[in-house]
Amino acid sequence: MQRLAVIGGSGLDRWGKPSRQHEASTRYGAASAPIAVFELGATELLFLPRHGSDHALAPHLINYRANIAALAALEPDAVVAVNAVGAIAPDHAPGALVLPDQLIDYSYGRDQSFFDGEAGPLAHVEFAEPFSAALRQQLLQAARQAQIDLYDGGCLAVTQGPRLETAAEVGRLGRDGNTLVGMTSMPEAALAREVNLPYVCIAVVANAAAGLGETITQASIEQVLDAAMNETRRLLVALTD
Ligand code: HPA
Repeated sequence: MQRLAVIGGSGLDRWGKPSRQHEASTRYGAASAPIAVFELGATELLFLPRHGSDHALAPHLINYRANIAALAALEPDAVVAVNAVGAIAPDHAPGALVLPDQLIDYSYGRDQSFFDGEAGPLAHVEFAEPFSAALRQQLLQAARQAQIDLYDGGCLAVTQGPRLETAAEVGRLGRDGNTLVGMTSMPEAALAREVNLPYVCIAVVANAAAGLGETITQASIEQVLDAAMNETRRLLVALTD
């Protein structure tokens, strides 16, 4: 892969010292942060922290259109999104890495589309499979080669946040068929599809979802993510090999 874009989530707000940065202003406004460029062997890695460099942007305040437009302008071959999530399925312990293949969107009030009446004729993009099947296979293969546990499949509920869910909400999400819950995959995944960017999500389990395990604290989330993000970075580097 020549150029890989990575959208970092909670726990992955920076990558290291970049060789250069792109100021990321678009007609939709400014992206969450400048896009940092790293050379990983023959691959150029473009890194954008979704919540901003200092983790100040809550999920409902992120300018998803600016983020995807800014990345699309740099013409990456693929976008890998990293999202901290809670686990609804009992087989995902905190720290697990999961590659969901479906999502259900419960978010609201976010700018959902590039089709705003000015961006050319309307098209209803195909979205039955929200994540790129080819990119999912590439990640599974990279994980096997680097001996990283990566769980294949799952349905990711995207809630509005920034608060966590009630236990009853998690019960309903489970009955709807969700195995994971996060706050930031939509409209990001749909916007990537609108501009034809192959997009995939690495879901990093920070906690058992509300009511299913111990009381969730910021400190416990951060502690789990700290360790799990090392594996996530290793996986991303393996993908560029
Ligand atoms: N719910 C929603 N988003 C999350 C969670 C959760 O339990 N943990 C980390 N991100």
